[in-house]
Amino acid sequence: MSHADPGISSFDSSINTTRQEFVAWGGGLYVEPDLKVAFPDGNRDLVLQYVSHNVDGNRLRILLKDISREVYVELQYQVDAATGVLRRSAQVQNRTASSLTIEQVAAGTWNLPRGTDYRLRYLTGRWAGEWSLHEQLIQPGKAILESRRGSTGDQNNPWFAIDRNGSNDQDSGDVWFGALGWSGSWQMSIEQDEIHQIRVTGGPNSFDFGYRLAAGEHLQSTDFYAGYSHDGIGGASRLLHRFEISSIVPHGTDAKLRPVLYNSWEATEFKVDEAGQETLAEKAASIGVERFVVDDGWFGQRASDRAGLGDWYVNPVKFPHGLKPLIDKVHSLGMDFGLWVEPEMVNPDSDLYRKHPDWVLNFTGRPRSEGRNQLMLNLARPDVREYVFQFLDKLLDENDIAFLKWDYNRNWSEPGWPAVAPEDQKKVYINYIQNLYSILEELRAKHPKLEIESCSGGGSRVDLGIMRYTDEVWPSDNTDAFDRLLIQDGFTYAYAPGVMMAWVTDSPTWVNQRSLSLEYRFLSSMQGSLGIGANLNNWKPDDFATAKKMVEQYKRIRQTVQRGSLYRLISPQKGSEQSVTETVSEDQNHAVAFAFLHSSQMLYPFPRIYLRGLRPDAMYRIAALDGKLSADTPAVASGSFWMQNGVDVELRGDFQACAFTLERVER
Ligand code: DGJ
Repeated sequence: MSHADPGISSFDSSINTTRQEFVAWGGGLYVEPDLKVAFPDGNRDLVLQYVSHNVDGNRLRILLKDISREVYVELQYQVDAATGVLRRSAQVQNRTASSLTIEQVAAGTWNLPRGTDYRLRYLTGRWAGEWSLHEQLIQPGKAILESRRGSTGDQNNPWFAIDRNGSNDQDSGDVWFGALGWSGSWQMSIEQDEIHQIRVTGGPNSFDFGYRLAAGEHLQSTDFYAGYSHDGIGGASRLLHRFEISSIVPHGTDAKLRPVLYNSWEATEFKVDEAGQETLAEKAASIGVERFVVDDGWFGQRASDRAGLGDWYVNPVKFPHGLKPLIDKVHSLGMDFGLWVEPEMVNPDSDLYRKHPDWVLNFTGRPRSEGRNQLMLNLARPDVREYVFQFLDKLLDENDIAFLKWDYNRNWSEPGWPAVAPEDQKKVYINYIQNLYSILEELRAKHPKLEIESCSGGGSRVDLGIMRYTDEVWPSDNTDAFDRLLIQDGFTYAYAPGVMMAWVTDSPTWVNQRSLSLEYRFLSSMQGSLGIGANLNNWKPDDFATAKKMVEQYKRIRQTVQRGSLYRLISPQKGSEQSVTETVSEDQNHAVAFAFLHSSQMLYPFPRIYLRGLRPDAMYRIAALDGKLSADTPAVASGSFWMQNGVDVELRGDFQACAFTLERVER
């Protein structure tokens, strides 16, 4: 069977030059496929054609089928009217009489208009250095963003933005952006083909992948979200933030604002005990903290990171009466209680591992590589899934816990699953993540008031998949307030400040021994969801007074910070000496701006700050939240004035910061 092809040459067949929504490998395809399968008879050719479609409200489904075999793919689309963000996924259905193996499956391909002037933005990082923003011209060929780590990773984050190079700035120009909703190994291919078409294809990583689909079974792909803004990269991130808050995180816009929390990790590390935590809780309550979180060290034989993971009983020496006395104390101080867990891990030095050495990812007879002295439980196993769910459920049943900080401190190695048939072992890449999501979903259903933070030794598991089940995320273990400006800036290209936990920690910081004023540290953290992680036992009365004032101020602006529209007025990227952000409330009646100076030089004043996003004709009263405005700043002026005339702030010296608010007033 052969057919004539209307492609542009014998080398460039139409299957390669057509802008395909979802294309399988077969029929001479050379661009990145969305689907690649192998049949038991050796055939690996799959050519999908349109069968039917169906529109239901904001959802569209398109059914495709192979030209001869009973393999169907349902393409699924759902549009969010408020932001234009489109969710795409695909379901592969094996209606043949035998099994087949899926070697690659994407949610779909986003096709951009033809062009040679596109620029890709993406995020890279590593532990304590997450969220670096990078830009590169899109050239002929392919750029691959990926994780082969079993989880999201921070070396690349599953987010992209593409604009037209040279015709863009923060708030104008075309931007196409997208993010994967998947917390396992993933890949995104950004490809410019031979006729300058741009295709972005994304889903689970095809490296070491293989999913056997038995006759009659189907596999649902990951979700891939994407949108478009003509308001520059700033407009793109504002749309994405709005979408995340309204459509991704649990409870959407009905969710509570993030409480101010205290976490003891940097203060006590593993040395947690009832008396020490109660002392910290009293001090935290005195400055207005609303949630007290006990971090690592409360369970099993957990004296250091060498032992205890997997043994989720309360350590009887540290907490002789269980957690209840501490939780009661925290409640009596007017705070709710949170607890750290790392459910997917086990230390070889634990009762759990001694009992179930077969529960970890491993290849029979091969070494088991440790990371932070721990191994990965294989959550794809039904018994492991059950164990993890049961211990968490029991912990939550027995204790009044409002919040779990869910940590995950290493990536996969030796991802074997010897308990199942060899041809099913690679299913671990999918089943593990599905079980992770199902545990989170079931826990939330059984404990509806529970809130969860996704943490992975910092920001190594932040993506739109995990965010469907978690209320906030931890962006980085790097809590240096100056480094955080860059980290937080990168983070907000993809994710909303409202879910970004940001702690005020000690000075000098453990990270790089930098000393920063307490006000500076607060202002840096107040751009996200405020937390305190300092050792309060070392604070002086003045520190408590400052902290109390800053926490009060944060509570006044948090609705705006957590739910408003973020404008990057001066970027901290590329070694900038300054950083300024502004957030405007949804109703445009309130705004708050944060300004940071690295180091002043040669008597230059701090650049004038031109606000954005205000109503031009409305009147706004300006007030310093911390620091000083220039003496000639009017008290009240129009939105146009603040946006076109701007504001001068008095910032001189090294590591200085200030913040001010604008409140709409009647004319
Ligand atoms: C890594 C986290 O990112 C830290 O905040 C802390 O919870 C430690 N793990 C505890 O082991």
